Amino acid sequence: MIGRLNHIAIAVRDLAAATALYRDTLGATVSAPLPQPEHGVTVVFVELPNAKVELLEPLGEGSPVGKFLEKNPEGGMHHVCYEVDDILAARDRLKAQGARVLGTGEPRIGAHGKPVLFLHPKDFCGTLVELEQI
Ligand code: CO
Repeated sequence: MIGRLNHIAIAVRDLAAATALYRDTLGATVSAPLPQPEHGVTVVFVELPNAKVELLEPLGEGSPVGKFLEKNPEGGMHHVCYEVDDILAARDRLKAQGARVLGTGEPRIGAHGKPVLFLHPKDFCGTLVELEQI
C-alpha cells in the first residue's frame, strides 16, 4: 500500500544552524526557510536524489514541534512520510486493522499542498507516520 518515502522530518531548535550543517558539512542542496504558521513550523527542505529531509523549527505558540523539543531537547526525527495513491482507501484499511489516525481522521492539506494524515506512533514502532496522497 505505501509507496515511496517522501520525506523524513527532523525537529531542530536552531534552523539556521541545522541549515548550515546540512548545506556546508553534509553538502546538500537546502531551500530557503519557509514559515508555515498553519502548521506551527518553519521548514527548510533538504533535497536529496531519492527523498527530502525537512528540518522543522517551532513557529508560534502551541507548535507540535515545540512540544516534541521539550521531550527531545537535542532535536530528533519527528516523523516519516510515505506516499499513497488513495489516502481515503489507505485510512480505511488502516482503521480496519486497528491503527489510530490522529485528529479528526479526515485528511488535511499538508506542507506540500497535498492531502495528508498522521498515524499514532504507538501503532508504528514508536514513529509518527505521515501519509501523503501524491
Ligand atoms: Co511531513
